[in-house]
Amino acid sequence: MVNRTQIMETETLEEAIKLLFERTSTGRNCIFTQEAMTGCVASEYDSLGKSGRQETYKKIAEDFKRRVSYKDRVGYEFLMNGPNFILDVGCGSGLLSLELAEKTDAVIYGIDISEDMIELANMNRDKRAKENLPKRHVANDPSLEILDVAEYNKTRLRFDVRSVYDLSTIVKKGVDFVICRNALHRFRNPQNAIDQMYSTLGTGGKIYIRDLKRDANWRTVLERIGEKRWSSPSLVIDYIGAMASMLTTPELEKIFLDLQIPNFTISDGSYLSTTEETNSNNIQEFASEVEYTCVIEK
Ligand SMILES: C[S@@+](CC[C@H](N)C(=O)[O-])C[C@H]1O[C@@H](n2cnc3c(N)ncnc32)[C@H](O)[C@@H]1O
Repeated sequence: MVNRTQIMETETLEEAIKLLFERTSTGRNCIFTQEAMTGCVASEYDSLGKSGRQETYKKIAEDFKRRVSYKDRVGYEFLMNGPNFILDVGCGSGLLSLELAEKTDAVIYGIDISEDMIELANMNRDKRAKENLPKRHVANDPSLEILDVAEYNKTRLRFDVRSVYDLSTIVKKGVDFVICRNALHRFRNPQNAIDQMYSTLGTGGKIYIRDLKRDANWRTVLERIGEKRWSSPSLVIDYIGAMASMLTTPELEKIFLDLQIPNFTISDGSYLSTTEETNSNNIQEFASEVEYTCVIEK
């Protein structure tokens, strides 16, 4: 059972892990027996995303565009190469992919190891396509207006049940951008996962990773739970268990050195975004304090 008072009184991650999972935890520790988020954890994560993270996903999509200097392909470049290809790894219920679909003209391919998450992602895409997505023009040619928005978005935004470890066998080399938000910690073998993501990139391609730091200030991590998440005990357990498997930035740096990936930058998690916080329902992310962002260029 989740006792809010007891959890809020913990002073360290290790203490909270002991309280909730009766385990001692040192270093990085994958508490859960499976990587996939399934069942009620998947559906509640999706609901929390839709009720309390709309602003967050918008900000991350903008932050991604700024940090990787994203530009849609137009004119000759578009005719020669088609649209950009963005791979969303560990896409969950697709809420970030949907924002990227609204903010770019790219083809977006979301993969997740969880069947439940991909089912939710497909439902979210179909619902959003019907309700919100504007009719789009292909690149800069207004004569090519796509009339069937739902069909169009199925082709430019696709989700599949796949594992990050199989990426090099399912995606051709030459991906322009990989985005991986709040998912790296879920991978038991993050080094292999990064190796796979890197191998799919074309020359000049970029990976954008955003996740939490295991060594972030514990009080801030607790405060970040927020009222909305407290109403869903399984998400609180998932959140705290997941914290034990987060990487620290020196651990991430070591992975790049071991993989001999030379071009990377790791920064704090503040959003380089112009979107004002207008939705008071948005859960407070404390992104600059507890998250990191990382951009890798091939
Ligand atoms: C915390 S969720 C983040 C979802 C999404 N990126 C977002 O920001 O809303 C992490 C996701 O990683 C997925 N995942 C875990 N292991 C995976 C693997 N080996 N390959 C692909 N996805 C995986 C989980 O199923 C889960 O949906």
